[in-house]
Amino acid sequence: MTQHSLLLRAVVLITAVLVLDPSARAEVNDSTIPHIVQKDGRYALFVDGAPYLILGAQVNNSSGWPSVLPKVWPAMDFLHVNTVEIPVYWEQLEPEQGRFDFSVVDTLLDQARQHKDHLVLLWFGTWKNGSNHYMPQWMKLDPHRYPNVTGADGKEVDSPSPLAKETLAADITAFSALMRHLKEADFQHTVLMIQVENESGTWGAVRDYSTAAQALFDGPVPTEVLAAMQKTHAPERANWQEAFGDDADEYFHVWGVSKFIGQVAAAGKAIYPLPMYVNASLRDPLNPGHPPKYEVGGPNDNVFPIWKAEAPAIDLLAPDIYQRESAHYLKALDYYHRSDNPLFIPETIGQGAYARFLFAALGRGAIGYSPFGLDYTRNFDYPPGSGMTPEQAFGPVALDYALIGPMMRDIARLNFEGKIQASVDERNSPDFPVAIATPPRPHKTEPTADPENPRLETPDEILHFGNWDAPVWHRPMRRGLGPATRPAVPLQPNGRALVAQLGDNQFLVTGLYCRVGFLPAGSAAGKPWQYLSAEEGQYKNGVFTPSRILNGDQTDWGLIFTSTPTVLRVTLYTR
Ligand code: DGJ
Repeated sequence: MTQHSLLLRAVVLITAVLVLDPSARAEVNDSTIPHIVQKDGRYALFVDGAPYLILGAQVNNSSGWPSVLPKVWPAMDFLHVNTVEIPVYWEQLEPEQGRFDFSVVDTLLDQARQHKDHLVLLWFGTWKNGSNHYMPQWMKLDPHRYPNVTGADGKEVDSPSPLAKETLAADITAFSALMRHLKEADFQHTVLMIQVENESGTWGAVRDYSTAAQALFDGPVPTEVLAAMQKTHAPERANWQEAFGDDADEYFHVWGVSKFIGQVAAAGKAIYPLPMYVNASLRDPLNPGHPPKYEVGGPNDNVFPIWKAEAPAIDLLAPDIYQRESAHYLKALDYYHRSDNPLFIPETIGQGAYARFLFAALGRGAIGYSPFGLDYTRNFDYPPGSGMTPEQAFGPVALDYALIGPMMRDIARLNFEGKIQASVDERNSPDFPVAIATPPRPHKTEPTADPENPRLETPDEILHFGNWDAPVWHRPMRRGLGPATRPAVPLQPNGRALVAQLGDNQFLVTGLYCRVGFLPAGSAAGKPWQYLSAEEGQYKNGVFTPSRILNGDQTDWGLIFTSTPTVLRVTLYTR
């Protein structure tokens, strides 16, 4: 047999194995399974071998059904998402104990592929917003086997107990079945990540006060929890109250929930190691108060170490950010942007000016962002009569994604390399978003630092890059620059800017409703400078393709970004 025919035989054999045995395909592609890589405290989600930025949207809770998907995909197309977050319902997946129905999951996979979207699947299992509402009926009807939390008053709370062994076993079985199915059915890696449970924890009680739970509470705190919370000096075999005082109830519940979910995730990951995360119903980042003001059990900022210790199979802890005040929103991003935690925002406000916070997330190295509830099942005409269409409500997110989408691989890579900084308008958004499609109002003057010289207006923020500073303005300019270059007057705080350093004196600059400038800094501070070139064009796969060079009015007043998606590569020089 010649070498050539041997090779041919091998190819035929491998092809036959792949066609006949779908699980073999997953084996063959193991090295290409989406995974998160950490370098110098920065993170990237690798998809098909390169950093990938999730520009996502989460559907409404009851939109993961085949009958509703026709109202999902057109919204996703309008938004220019690359990834759809969509629930998998335990009650649908395992209608009878041990009988699994993957038909809905398969429909999701098929339709996502047709629409060239990736998926993040949300496992609505034991917990959904702190309750057991997505458990199958056979579990709900057997509350002794699958108990809820007992409150301090002895009454049942609408929340599953994290200490219930049968519930844990059932969840592990179902989640493992899901992961096994994905491993076999998704060798294309349509699914990028898995959210394990949804806003796990408990509202209405700080912990389980059942007899069994109380016995554990009165027993010694596990050593890994003492170490995680830096209580190694606690007396030997200290119980929860002795070790943690006022925080004991809360930490005990967090331990129970994180240990439970850690085991579910580990079982699924042993079968198919997709990245997995847990989302938090956020306590107020600036004014948290005490339970029961917030849901207890999930990965809030004060209990990160317990989650990291008890659930190592969870790759990241993620904030669901619904904070409406900018300072609170930004603080939430800061809390979850840590060297031991990739930043990913799986849920956030999905309409109006809040879309600018995508840029705040990117400036903190986020691997993805996904506003909640953006499909066509939802009525945005609120307050009634406001006439807001879904397209108007989603418009700002769509604009973000239209701008960032074509270069999402580059943005992910530049973030992984620590090259990106961003700025958003930090004024608070109005309570009810205003459609940005409204024609701009007449230009209005705002007070400035130097009313005679708009070039010297005080910037809203200065981004620092070694020998260059990049001042950013989010307010309208004082003086008209002609219709082509005047930034649309923001009807609400819309400004967002992103600057990435490409070389010593070269930057990628983009944004919406803002103005960006440059100034020599560091050892070059005070030197005269100018643009060597300000090229407008497209950035893709590390290559910038210019379409024109901006100059004159388009650079003399700073680099102006309006509602038209614009990407610039500027090269600077000092004299
Ligand atoms: C947060 C939850 O995680 C979502 O599933 C959804 O219930 C939103 N809150 C509110 O609509």
